[in-house]
Amino acid sequence: MLYITRREHFSASHILFNQNLDEKDNAELFGKCNSLHGHNYFLEVTFCGETDKKSGYMIDLKMLKKLINDEIISKVDHKNLNDIEMFRNVIPTTENIVLKFMEILNKKVTFPNAKLYSVKLYETEKNFVEIRND
Ligand code: NI
Repeated sequence: MLYITRREHFSASHILFNQNLDEKDNAELFGKCNSLHGHNYFLEVTFCGETDKKSGYMIDLKMLKKLINDEIISKVDHKNLNDIEMFRNVIPTTENIVLKFMEILNKKVTFPNAKLYSVKLYETEKNFVEIRND
């Protein structure tokens, strides 16, 4: 089995809070993340599958690049994640962001020789969350 990954980047801001908690409890729960701040996120989308006999490719990376940009990057880059429809009523933690991205990509991206294997989101160089389609 082959694995192929497209890496993309976006910058976005967020503030972590739970609307059901008061100011003090939110400050305690989220600490510094309870203030508006930004991240330079890196997104990795991995497909697994086999090569197409005719082209030798597994997927069309140009097409994948366009799909990721149209469905995700254009909607989140230079935005405040708390303000966009995608995260309405969702606390935009890395975990919740990656869950949403996987849901979107599962609906929008299909290739004949490959399956969406995983989505990985780096919030910082040291912190990232990965979700896999099992
Ligand atoms: Ni943050």
